[in-house]
Amino acid sequence: MPLQRIAKLLTDAQPETSITVKGWVRTRRDSKNGFSFIELNDGSCMSNLQIVVDGDVPGYAETIKDVTTGASVSIEGTVKESPGKGQRIEVHATTLTLLGAADPATFPLQKKGHSFEFLRDIAHLRARTNSFGAVARVRNSVCRSIHNFFQSRGFLYVNTPIITTSDCEGAGEMFQVTTLNLQRLAAAQTEIDWKQDFFAKPASLTVSGQLEAETYATSVGDCYTFGPTFRAENSNTTRHLAEFWMVEPEMPFYELTDNMDLAEAFIKTIINDVLEQCPEDMQFFNQRIDKTVLETLENIRSQEFERLTYTAAVELLQSSGKKFDYPVEWGIDLQSEHERFLTEEHFKQPVILYDYPRTIKPFYMRCNDDGKTVRAMDVLVPRVGEIIGGSQREERLDVLLSRIEECGMNPEDYWWYVDLRKYGTVPHSGFGLGLERAVQLVTGMTNIRDVIPFPRTPGHAEF
Ligand code: 4AD
Ligand code: MG
Repeated sequence: MPLQRIAKLLTDAQPETSITVKGWVRTRRDSKNGFSFIELNDGSCMSNLQIVVDGDVPGYAETIKDVTTGASVSIEGTVKESPGKGQRIEVHATTLTLLGAADPATFPLQKKGHSFEFLRDIAHLRARTNSFGAVARVRNSVCRSIHNFFQSRGFLYVNTPIITTSDCEGAGEMFQVTTLNLQRLAAAQTEIDWKQDFFAKPASLTVSGQLEAETYATSVGDCYTFGPTFRAENSNTTRHLAEFWMVEPEMPFYELTDNMDLAEAFIKTIINDVLEQCPEDMQFFNQRIDKTVLETLENIRSQEFERLTYTAAVELLQSSGKKFDYPVEWGIDLQSEHERFLTEEHFKQPVILYDYPRTIKPFYMRCNDDGKTVRAMDVLVPRVGEIIGGSQREERLDVLLSRIEECGMNPEDYWWYVDLRKYGTVPHSGFGLGLERAVQLVTGMTNIRDVIPFPRTPGHAEF
């Protein structure tokens, strides 16, 4: 009998067929009449498969007492129409094999609900709960949607490096990568000779694959990079991780409005795909995590995003009459409270802000003629705030060089990036979407630590 996954059985299996299932026990109930019910889950879907194990199944008496929550079992049996409510079928076992016991005295996941804080400390087991199983499936669906979206538009998937010697965002938030013996250096108290290090100069984990993606966009055309990125920023918030996944499309011949159009279509596609591919998990999030999540997603996918300049947003915030912790003035980096006011309270839908002050944005963004702003865009969504950051890129050699210097960086360090402006330069644009923030948006999960399997935050890199 071939092994079957529970998601498929629950939708397709016909009564009287013989099947094999394997998975982990969620609960077991024993009837006084000498048989047991097992709720079995194999992670393929939220629902459990109900198994009826009769007392005359071989080995029942010896085995059943160890079939406890968390134990793994293999079961052969026959599919039956279920007389019970809430399930189409159940399985009547003909064999029952205990694969691995889970001592009820120590197994930390019991039937009662556990707090997300508690589950973070047992991240190696939390995917066995309803919530984290659902997050894992939805995250997978988002990733699938991301690839489909770009592949169906002819974008090339390029793999940009994880180890780099350039700081794309210029924010100095990089994790250093070195094979130098820090202990010995500290003892010697000498100047560091980078020639002795593995890459013969200071290297770090990348904060973004954008600069390398630009080299491909200006050779093979529309492309995207999608991988882990790292930021050593000391922010302990519900929206920041030290290691997160980012998808970054980069398109030659795109101006800022083309970039906005793509970003808007992209977010709507992700929402549509998840609603279609994960209806059961999405019902769960709507019932148990955030009662407004389906309504919010419906609203986002059916409306046009509001687009306004940074300057207009600042005026709007100033005249809103709302008291903010951080006062609003032209030139400030907008805080989460400002972004959320715009998208949640004022417009009640996603907002694309553009043309930000050049002083708060990185060197690579295209300068506007006003001398004050750059062709930046941030997409803000309810409950998450900034989900996408992007821009049209500065394609003019002289302007780029002066911006690099203005930002206190050395043009020689970016010689290869500058070359793109010397040889066949073209207008081009791109953006970055934080995968975890996208998963937060679609699931309604409030803490970003709960939408990535093993979160890395200041002081935490367990597992
Ligand atoms: O706005 P950011 O810093 O943009 C860039 O890195 C550009 N190079 C992207 C590009 O144009 N190709 O980051 C992009 C997105 C943010 O909007 C946010 O969703 C996410 O990445 N992000 C984070 N997510 C989790 N934890 C963090 N510390 C994040 N920092 C950024
Ligand atoms: Mg940003």
